[in-house]
Formats: sequence, structure tokens, C-alpha cells
Amino acid sequence: MAEQTLVLIKPDGLKKSLTGNILTRLSETKLEIAAAKAVCVTRELAGEHYRHMKDKPFFNELLDYLMGNLHNRKKVLALVYHGDNAIKLVRDICGDTNPESADPTSIRGSYGRITTKGLFENIIHASSSPEEAEREIKLWFKPEELVYRIYPVETEEKVTQTLVWA
Ligand code: PPS
Repeated sequence: MAEQTLVLIKPDGLKKSLTGNILTRLSETKLEIAAAKAVCVTRELAGEHYRHMKDKPFFNELLDYLMGNLHNRKKVLALVYHGDNAIKLVRDICGDTNPESADPTSIRGSYGRITTKGLFENIIHASSSPEEAEREIKLWFKPEELVYRIYPVETEEKVTQTLVWA
């Protein structure tokens, strides 16, 4: 059954010019990209993304890291990968969350580090379970931003102003 998973190339990955390498590694999965965009991460979005970590002593640093405040690079590249077994295939290529224990040939093992304060700067985020993938994809993307959708949608009548090309 087709799954979807959220991938974030974090600000350190962008600052170290690793985007091409990471996308090449991820293409080994033969999964399809269902969505991709650059995002300037607000504290609110970072806090919601890492809401299960809010009691950790390093929670604020975690938010600063995702927002790019630690690398002076205030954006992440957010992608949705789509296909059979997507969550595990992507997690395997990313490697362990802790870059020191990650397989050295994995993305995190190759490029991640632990700061002197003990924060994992592990270059990439990938959803950990089907439940988290659904929550995270719905947090980062609107339905119309996905080329393929696996979660139900509904229409909502809205009167809004949108930007159009002048
Ligand atoms: S995981 O991989 O999503 O299952 O990890 P999880 O334990 O749910 O979330 C941990 C996120 O916090 C980041 N982080 C750390 N975790 C543990 N210890 C330390 N010191 C630490 N520093 C940062 C970790 O990288 C996970 O975020 P992501 O974005 O998933 O890597």
C-alpha cells in the first residue's frame, strides 16, 4: 500500500550545500516526490512539529535549529515522498536520529554532528510512523500542494484574496 512521508532538509543541510547529495541518496528509494517547497519556519510551526519534545531541556534549541537561527539560514526544504513502504525506506537511508550512532554511509552518519551542548544537528528529518507522517504532512502542506494524495479531503467554501501575477 502506498504511504507518504515528510522529509525536511534542515538549515544545516542547506548551508552545507548538501541538497543535491541528499536528493540523490533519497532517489535510491525509487519513491516519487509528491510535493516540495522551501519554507521559512516560524517558531509556531517548529513548536507544533516537535510538540512531543516540549518537555525536553533542549526544546528551545531544537526550535532555533529548525528555524535556522543556529546556521543563519532561515529556511528548510520540505518534501513529501510517496510509494510503497515510504516511511521505512526513507528512514533507513537517513540513518539513526543520533548522527554518532547512525550508519556512517547513511545521510545522518555522513553529514550530521552533535554540538558541544549535545544537540543533534542531523541534517534531515523523516517521519517516524504512519501516524506521525499523516500529522506532519497535514501540518506542512495544504492538500492542493500534493500531486498525489492518500488522505481524504473535503471542499470548503471560502471568500479569500489571493496573489495573482500582475
Ligand atoms: S525520531 O527520530 O523522530 O523518532 O526521534 P524523536 O525521539 O521522536 O524526536 C527527537 C527529535 O529531537 C531531536 N534531537 C534530539 N533527540 C534526542 N536527544 C538529543 N540530544 C536531541 N537533539 C535533537 C532529534 O533530532 C529528533 O528530531 P528529528 O527532526 O526527527 O531528527
